Amino acid sequence: MIKAVRGTRDLLPPETALWNVVEAEVREVFRAYNFQEIRTPIFEATELFARGVGEETDIVSKEMYTWEDRGRAESDKGQSLTLRPEATAGIVRAYIEHKLGDRGLNKLYCMGPMFRRERPQKGRYRQFYQIDAEVIGPASAGSERPIRDAEVLEMLNTLLRRLGIADFTLYINSVGDAADRAAYNDALRAALQPVVGKMCADCQRRAVTNPLRVFDCKVPEDQPVIATLPVISNYLGETSREHFQSVQALLKDAGVVFAVNPRLVRGLDYYTRTAFEFTHGALGAQNAILGGGRYDGLAELLGSPQPAPGIGFAIGEDRLVMALQARATEAAASMDVYVAPVGEGMNRKALRLAGDLRREGLAVELGDRSFRLKKMFEAATKAGAKYILIVGENEVKADAFALKNLATGEQVSVPLAELARRIRGG
Ligand code: HAM
Repeated sequence: MIKAVRGTRDLLPPETALWNVVEAEVREVFRAYNFQEIRTPIFEATELFARGVGEETDIVSKEMYTWEDRGRAESDKGQSLTLRPEATAGIVRAYIEHKLGDRGLNKLYCMGPMFRRERPQKGRYRQFYQIDAEVIGPASAGSERPIRDAEVLEMLNTLLRRLGIADFTLYINSVGDAADRAAYNDALRAALQPVVGKMCADCQRRAVTNPLRVFDCKVPEDQPVIATLPVISNYLGETSREHFQSVQALLKDAGVVFAVNPRLVRGLDYYTRTAFEFTHGALGAQNAILGGGRYDGLAELLGSPQPAPGIGFAIGEDRLVMALQARATEAAASMDVYVAPVGEGMNRKALRLAGDLRREGLAVELGDRSFRLKKMFEAATKAGAKYILIVGENEVKADAFALKNLATGEQVSVPLAELARRIRGG
């Protein structure tokens, strides 16, 4: 037997109904905040992620699904392609490619699968799903202003509550601008220099190439050393500090509860200033339900002729649905009526009648006259139908059909014209 590949999984009904409920509610919230959908390709040039996310990040250095595409001719060297491990780099690429900056402020969202070759465990998959949103635009459209950060966080706070998630915590931090980062990296290098010899090989390399990434280390023995390293908040310049203060004041005014976590740096290189994460109590080790932040400078890094500051986030949809699992039964598809043809020639009548009811918006399952009636009752019950509708010769002649409520056992004869209303009415 061929099974789904390790780290991937099939999403099955009835859980898929919950995914659809979540996506529909998220779309409504996005509409209220004037976000519009963008769909970017599932694979991109490898260089996009190497440059955007950063060579030294775990995502780029260890977790990407990358391959050499075939060139046109036998002798051609193919292009290096990668399954997207995240959505932000692709959206910013599309923003530049289609000159979306000419339209001013852009609020874009996308939903879909991402791919990272991580060690699979509960809440961590190699193909997982993100709901990603980005606010990007030229500085003249105010895209770098603290109100954008606050608006995004207020939206997330509203969204999670609307979905019925209460047990979450919002952590925020400022990771500074490019100049602050340079000063902080110097301080980190200096602090690491006497101790790094005892750390893992990855940390020894990071200490030279990109010291901030030392915070991504998962090696238990390295954690006591990491806990003693300086925090970035002591290296923020005046403008970053003011920006962060404004974001916090706006959040307080909007009633968004948060905690400042000075050790939150996030695992991707593009972040500047505001960085944030929402965690959820019931998720276990993989408790980050979503993460995001500001990325002023990313567009220029990816070739934009004009600066295009931005801020965004990605919700881990797998984890969001897990947090909502209690609602699964509620969202499970409910079926209105099972149409049971009984007797010669009744399949034709039943097929037409089922079509009429479906056009009325009812969820309908259809039997087959070769089945015994008992079998159709069993099938209707198993499928979760509220009613079974008998389509036999007598019913067709009388233009009135036997409709049985499967929960109460009550059976009534209903004229054709009233069937849909009666079934819908409960
Ligand atoms: P990220 O923190 O790498 O950020 O991922 C965001 C969320 O995706 C995580 O909080 C988690 O819920 C989910 N996630 C990540 N990896 C996995 C996995 N292997 N299995 C299941 N869920 C996972 C980003 O991807 C940024 N692009 C977010 C962003 C958008 N920043 C600015 N704009």
